[in-house]
Amino acid sequence: MNKAASITVRPSTMDDLARIVDIGSRTWDGDDYIPHVAERWITSTHGVFAVAELDGVLCGFGRLAFHSPQHGWLEGLRVDAAYQRRGVARAIGRYLMDAAFRAGVSTLRFATAVDNKESIALNESAGFVRIGGGRWLDCDLTVDELAQRAETLAAELGATPELVTRLRGDELGADSPFIRQVLSSHTIASTGGMIPSGFVFYPAEPDYASGLAVDGYAYSAPRGQGDDGAILLATIWAESPTDRPEAVINVLEGGRRACAAALAAALRDFRRDGIADVVATVPCESVQLEVLKGIGYTSWLEDDCPVDNPTVILFDYPINTQQQLEP
Ligand SMILES: CC(C)(COP(=O)(O)OP(=O)(O)OC[C@H]1O[C@@H](n2cnc3c(N)ncnc32)[C@H](O)[C@@H]1OP(=O)(O)O)[C@@H](O)C(=O)NCCC(=O)NCCS
Repeated sequence: MNKAASITVRPSTMDDLARIVDIGSRTWDGDDYIPHVAERWITSTHGVFAVAELDGVLCGFGRLAFHSPQHGWLEGLRVDAAYQRRGVARAIGRYLMDAAFRAGVSTLRFATAVDNKESIALNESAGFVRIGGGRWLDCDLTVDELAQRAETLAAELGATPELVTRLRGDELGADSPFIRQVLSSHTIASTGGMIPSGFVFYPAEPDYASGLAVDGYAYSAPRGQGDDGAILLATIWAESPTDRPEAVINVLEGGRRACAAALAAALRDFRRDGIADVVATVPCESVQLEVLKGIGYTSWLEDDCPVDNPTVILFDYPINTQQQLEP
């Protein structure tokens, strides 16, 4: 256990569930995902889900996930509003960072919204530095409406459906041209060498990317007719087993016409597969941003965040050799 003043940080147990859900359900006007994942996080044997007590009262929590043994990812840091600004988050962060260093991670990262001043101040003062990010896009239209709009846009740009191929299985191996294109994309370069997935970023490593593509949706539109071609990688997730799955566009990149065609193909498949919603995090001022806006997506915080700034910021903790060697 780790003590800072009267704050105690320890691993969570099922006895903490109700209080964790209570704090989560009062965060961000009830729009927090924590109540959906709390039980899974407590019972998971992967990662560290820690809680903090101030004078014996559970008042905050946070999680260290391992997207791969080398890559630590911090998420779900929350402190009950009644206990904020008393060092609780800092104590949780320190506990999780120590756990990450003991596990020997080579990267330790997290992402937050550009307008989350508290989180940014906390983490920059702890030594985290900005390494990239993207514009988070969502949309009120149904997947059916989006699919129709994407088809219309693709047709207007002169793209035909047969331009796009959905790739599967062997075509998505770690050494495949598709995965090589994903890993060398401008998207990955603008997100600190990680694969964006909404507010989460995954290691941009060949095996990891291949696993995402095999379990998700992968499309390729070859070069041709004055167009650069395009690739699209999307993954599926659901907040809880009872929720309808949602899609996240991880990488959409290429020429305008081919991007529109790849998007139309993906949205057709999402509609067929009953996907409830589709979001994306894409590079600032990019072709894909314009294509997604062209079918009805809006960039979150559009009016408050300059167009060349990410709305989701990725942070990295510069790990030195000494930290890796510490017991
Ligand atoms: C962000 C959050 C976890 C901080 O929790 P906390 O226990 O109040 O934070 P701490 O008391 O440990 O603060 C540590 C440092 O963070 C920064 N900080 C925290 N709250 C801040 C605020 N309201 N304004 C400016 N800086 C703030 C300060 O640098 C502070 O150090 P200081 O008090 O010595 O100036 C809390 O505000 C919260 O739960 N917010 C809602 C959920 C959220 O945004 N989570 C992070 C998602 S990435």
